[in-house]
Amino acid sequence: MAIDKKFVDHFIEVTSKAALASSYLVGKKDKIAADKAAVDSMRFNLNKIDINGHIVIGEGELDEAPMLYIGEKLGTRNGPEFDIAVDPLEGTNFAANNLPGALSVIAVSEKNNLLKAPETYMEKISTRVNEKNVVDLDYTVKQNISNLSDYLNKNPEDLTACILDRARHKEIIEELKKLKVNLKLITDGDVSGALLVTQKKYNVDIFLGIGGGPEGVITAAALDAFNCNFQGRFLFKTDEDKLRARKMGIIDLTKKYELNEIVCGDSIFCATGITSGDLVSGIDIQGDEYFSETLVTHKSSGLKKVVKIKQNI
Ligand code: FBP
Repeated sequence: MAIDKKFVDHFIEVTSKAALASSYLVGKKDKIAADKAAVDSMRFNLNKIDINGHIVIGEGELDEAPMLYIGEKLGTRNGPEFDIAVDPLEGTNFAANNLPGALSVIAVSEKNNLLKAPETYMEKISTRVNEKNVVDLDYTVKQNISNLSDYLNKNPEDLTACILDRARHKEIIEELKKLKVNLKLITDGDVSGALLVTQKKYNVDIFLGIGGGPEGVITAAALDAFNCNFQGRFLFKTDEDKLRARKMGIIDLTKKYELNEIVCGDSIFCATGITSGDLVSGIDIQGDEYFSETLVTHKSSGLKKVVKIKQNI
C-alpha cells in the first residue's frame, strides 16, 4: 500500500519547524542545546499528526529516557501505522559552529518496513548506478573504482568519491588518491554526503566509508526514491553493542544489507536545512516569517524535489 501523499506536507512541517527551532542556536557552540531544540520541536509536531507512529530510529533507548526514544509511540493514534526514523539535528558540530550542512531529517515507512538500527557504526557504499556487481561493499576500493569507471565510461580521474575525513579511512583515502580519484572529504554529515550521489549536478559518483548506522537507514529511504544503490553493514565494538543489536532483532551481526532490506515499500523522506549546505539552504528568518528549504522524497508518487516554504514563526 502507498502512503497517502497528504502526509508529505505534514512531515515537511515537522522538519522545517525542527530546523527553525534549532536555527536559534546556530553558532552558540552548544551541540546539546541545538539538538534538544530540534528534538523537542519534532516530537511536539509529530504528536499533532493523525498517525500511529512508532519510532524505530531516534535519540536512544528507553532506559536512557531521551525524548524520541526507540519504541516511543507518536501521533494522535488516529491514523495509519508508520515506522519513523528521526535525526532531528544531523550535524551537531555544523549547527554549534555555524558551519554549512546542518539538517533536520525524518524518514517514514509503513509499519515494519524500516530496519531497526542500533546506535553503532555502519560500513556504507552508495552510487547512482543501480546494477548488481558494479559497486559492492565486499569488493576492494580498486575493484569498485575500476567497475564504476568501466560502467560509466569514465576514467578514474574523472570520478569523485565522497567520504568522511576520519583517521579510520586513511587506507581508503590513500587508495583513492593512488587511483587518481577526486576526493570530496566531509568533516561530518554523512546523510548529506551519501545523498550527493543522487543527482549528477552534485558531481559525486560514489559515497563510501564508515559512519553512523542510524544515519545509514535514514539515508536509504531517500536513496530508494532516487533509485540509487546502497549497501550497509553494521560494525560492533563491544559485546554490549552486540547484545543490544540482538535485542533489536539483528540475528546475523555481520550481514551485508541491500537497500531494500533496510527500507521497503513506500516511504517519505524530508531533510530541511538549518544552515545552508550542498543539498538545501538553511533557515532564513525575516521579521516574523521564515523561509525553509526541504529535500523531500515520496517513493510511490515519484516526488523528489526541494520544497521552499515561507511560514509565520
Ligand atoms: P551528529 O549530528 O550526531 O553529531 O552526527 C554527525 C556525523 O557526522 C554523522 O553524519 C555521521 O554518521 C557520524 O557523525 C560519524 O561519526 P563520527 O564523528 O564518530 O565519525
